[in-house]
Parts: sequence; C-alpha cells; structure tokens
Amino acid sequence: MKLTDPFGRHITYLRLSVTDRCNYRCVYCMSEDMTFLPRAQLLSLEECAQISAAFVDMGVKKIRITGGEPLIRRDIASLFQQLGRLPSLDELTLTTNGTHLPYHASDLAAAGVRRINISLDTLCANQFHEITRTGSLDDVFCGIDAARQAGIETIKLNAVILRHRNLNQVIPLLQFALRESLDISFIEEMPLGAVVDHQRETEFCSSAELRALMAEHYELQPTTINTGGPSRYWRVDGSLSRVGFISPHSDNFCGDCNRVRVTAEGKLLLCLGNEDAVDLKALIRRYPGDRERLKQTIVDALALKPEKHHFYENDQPQIIRFMNATGG
Ligand code: GTP
Ligand code: 5AD
Ligand code: SF4
Repeated sequence: MKLTDPFGRHITYLRLSVTDRCNYRCVYCMSEDMTFLPRAQLLSLEECAQISAAFVDMGVKKIRITGGEPLIRRDIASLFQQLGRLPSLDELTLTTNGTHLPYHASDLAAAGVRRINISLDTLCANQFHEITRTGSLDDVFCGIDAARQAGIETIKLNAVILRHRNLNQVIPLLQFALRESLDISFIEEMPLGAVVDHQRETEFCSSAELRALMAEHYELQPTTINTGGPSRYWRVDGSLSRVGFISPHSDNFCGDCNRVRVTAEGKLLLCLGNEDAVDLKALIRRYPGDRERLKQTIVDALALKPEKHHFYENDQPQIIRFMNATGG
C-alpha cells in the first residue's frame, strides 16, 4: 500500500503532534486563556509509535514531531528512541520552542535526530515576552547551545513575521542566523483559531516584502534546495545559511504537498487549511494491533485531501482549530 492522493501527490512526510500544551502562549498560535485537552484524550506514546510505524510501512520517509511544545510531553525521549529504530525512515526531526532542549538534546541526537527547527521571532527580550506572553529569550539561546553541543548538525530558526510585532526584526534575525551559521525560515502567518493577531489588513507581511527589505543589505540568490517542507530557500552570497520563506498566502506551495498531520488527539488531518479529519485513535482503540486495518483507513482517508488550503471564506478566516491543537 502506498500513499497517493487524488491529485497524484505522494505522501512521504508525517507531522505528528504529541501535545497541544505549551509553556508559551504565542499571540499568533493561542488565545491568552487557552484551555487544553484532558490528558486522557491524547494518543499515548505507544499509540503514536504504532501510527508512525503504519505510515512508514506505506512509504513515509520523514517524521516531524510537533505540538504544542513536544519536549514538555512526559517521557518524550522514549518516543524518539522507538521512532529512531524504524528501519526505512530517512529523517526524524522536530519543531520546538527550544526551551527544553537543555534536558533533551543529547537523547534526541542519540535517537538519530540530525536537524531541528526552533521558533524564534525576535532578538529583543521585551518583544519576545510580548509575543510569547510567558517566555524568556535567554532560554531559547540556551536551547540552541544545547542542540549544538549535543551534535545536532543543522538548526533552522522559524520566525513568524507580523507587521506591528516584529517586522523590525527581519534584518537582526537574518544577521544572527548568518553569523551563527543557522538556517532560518520567515513564515507568513496563517489564520488558525480565534487569535487576536490574525489581522490580515494590518499585520500581513508577504515574503516578497521581506526579501525587498533584505535586498537593501544583502545579495540574495534563489536556490533549488528542497528539504521536503514548504520553505523555498535562498542564499546570501558568501554564507552557508539557507534563508527560507514559507508563503502560504503569497506563493502557494500546495501543488508539491507531500505531507499529512496527526493531531495530539489522534485525528488524521489531510491539510492544515481544511477541517476534514479521520479519527485514528478511535480506530486503534477499537481494533488494537490491527495494523492492516489502520493502514487501509489511512489510505482511504487520503481521498479527503484537498487540492489546496482554504483559510478564508468570504474574506473571513474559517479554520477554528488553533495551531497548537493542529500541530504547528
Ligand atoms: P523542514 O523540514 O525544515 O522543511 O520544515 P518545515 O518547514 O516542513 O516544518 P516547520 O515545522 O518548521 O514548519 C514551518 C511552518 O510551515 C509552520 O508555520 C508550519 O505550520 C508551516 N507548514 C508546514 N507544513 C505546511 C503545510 O503543509 N501547509 C501549510 N499551509 N503550512 C505548513
Ligand atoms: N501561522 C504560521 N506559523 C505559525 N506557527 C505557529 N502558529 C502559526 C501561525 N498562526 C509556527 C511556529 C512554529 C511552527 C511550527 O509553526 O512559530 O515555528
Ligand atoms: Fe508554543 Fe509554538 Fe504555539 Fe508558541 S507557536 S505557543 S512556542 S506551540
């Protein structure tokens, strides 16, 4: 069984969320008074491993663990160990806010994680606190150091840019990435959940606008680099860093989509910008150990994968799921 959707796209990348919880409350991701799922509703780590193994059986080559903040899930290292042993998986990775890397980086490296993405929207401590509502910038720097010391080879920073929050950080973040030989992706914000910062008219900054800002200081060259995710990469002359742009609004990348998500409560979500989902948790609890039935359900679910994301209806955001519940 292989995973091919109705538009002929092969699914080789699973984004698996292990928790909707996070120690931060980023303004574009959560509301201030977020309520989280009761723990009993989450997939167990054993169930996460079963589902992952079924996907790998059907040709998935890359698994990214997401959240919420994946590293706050109790015993998360054991999941990385299990997944790291899946024989035909090419890449096991994660997206994290970085704060818990000092506790986990060496376990991640030992499990085979070679490349990680760390969210960082600003280098200004006050702005950082305003965006994350609870976070401290120094914790992220400690996380970056811990990942390096553990031997994780490639670190990509992820920066969501909002005009009145952190547009002034585009050049400082780029300089930081170049100086530290880190990759960096600049992300156009996506309107998921009832979040105050989803103000397209006032806050949206297109990737082209960011590149124009960068061009005042640096010479940027497009590349054909493909890490299997949505980023399109450019390089600054003379530097090793990859400078990525994730442009769901201004440069649609759905034609090349190779991924699906499993949410923390075990829903298979075919697209970030679409509400269709299939409940894998209910299935594996009803038919424990029935790998073939699980695989057939996943194959059938692909019929629901839309051609592209659909964030707006009549100009209004229409996805009510929050990003942390979706698996950022
Ligand atoms: P690489 O493996 O480094 O290429 O990472 P990635 O860009 O796939 O993953 P990451 O977790 O760093 O995600 C960066 C941003 O891209 C986040 O805001 C994600 O929500 C967004 N993203 C990832 N996949 C998709 C997708 O299929 N559709 C949309 N609209 N956004 C996506
Ligand atoms: N739009 C775009 N990216 C988002 N992220 C979280 N919420 C949003 C949003 N509304 C990013 C985080 C993290 C990645 C997994 O998703 O900053 O880097
Ligand atoms: Fe946490 Fe990431 Fe959401 Fe920020 S964007 S609140 S770090 S899950």
